[in-house]
Amino acid sequence: MKTVTLPDGTELAAIGQGTWNMGDDESRRHDEIQALRTGIDQELQVIDTAEMYGNGRSERLVREAIANRRRNVLLVSKVLPSNASYDDVLAACDRSLERLGTDYLDLYLLHWRGRVPLAETVAAFEQLKGEGKIKRWGVSNFDTDDMEELWNVEDGQNCAINQVLYNLTARGIEYDLIPWQKEKGIPIMAYCPLAQGDRKEILHNAAVRELAKTYDVSVSQIALAWTIQSGHVISIPKAGQAPHVMENAEAANLVLNKEDLAKIDKEFPPPTSKVPLEIV
Ligand SMILES: NC(=O)c1ccc[n+]([C@@H]2O[C@H](COP(=O)([O-])OP(=O)(O)OC[C@H]3O[C@@H](n4cnc5c(N)ncnc54)[C@H](OP(=O)(O)O)[C@@H]3O)[C@@H](O)[C@H]2O)c1
Repeated sequence: MKTVTLPDGTELAAIGQGTWNMGDDESRRHDEIQALRTGIDQELQVIDTAEMYGNGRSERLVREAIANRRRNVLLVSKVLPSNASYDDVLAACDRSLERLGTDYLDLYLLHWRGRVPLAETVAAFEQLKGEGKIKRWGVSNFDTDDMEELWNVEDGQNCAINQVLYNLTARGIEYDLIPWQKEKGIPIMAYCPLAQGDRKEILHNAAVRELAKTYDVSVSQIALAWTIQSGHVISIPKAGQAPHVMENAEAANLVLNKEDLAKIDKEFPPPTSKVPLEIV
């Protein structure tokens, strides 16, 4: 299985699990919990949630899914920018821990940049680390200039990951953000790796369909496998159904060769100049 290494040497499966919109619909709850448990059993360690998702409903559902499996999970949650001041980060983390039924997060991210100075949020993250409430911290939706600014803040270089939009139809980060992070040794966590609801462009693409046929896999598996080819990206597809999770886990073993990647580039060209980071 393809893996990615965090700055502290922790090695993780390059596919994890997202949970946005999970827990919102009671009739899907059972399937969603089963789906997440299937993923853990398939050794997809990363589970990504956020205080924002369903106002805590996603975190509560994750609590149920990881019960008795906590040690097999690398649990990620995110603090809202409106809670990014020093005291508010500490309080928000406690609330997330409570909802998740755990006494530590493996990774705590700033969901996106707001008005609070980065130095203040980083100081709170470092405090939480010192208290053992989080093992590491990172950011989300940071473009290259944001990362550079973070790098110059005290302890900013302790950032473990940047979670951003990345899929076949959104490749802008390949121009400057991925190279910058590669040089610094900070992996990318790719969100919406399956392009979420707006997947028609990928699903109906003849070249991608042809590749799927060649490898006897689904179009989604090609799209997902493509996101992790560099070895520097962990993808976190959200799948509310166990069969989808099984497919996604298998995509971590799918190796696309140079010719395959060239075919994909023809259909979904890489950026040739700076593209501002897209945010969902
Ligand atoms: N940091 C941020 O600002 C940010 C923003 C957006 C998302 N995220 C994170 O990234 C995660 C993933 O993004 P996303 O949920 O927006 O979109 P996504 O993972 O690109 O797409 C999710 C959709 O793909 C379907 N799917 C999953 N696996 C499939 C498969 N093998 N075959 C066919 N369909 C499949 C899911 O259906 P089923 O559910 O029916 O299986 C769901 O409808 C989120 O859940 C969240 O954790 C972070």
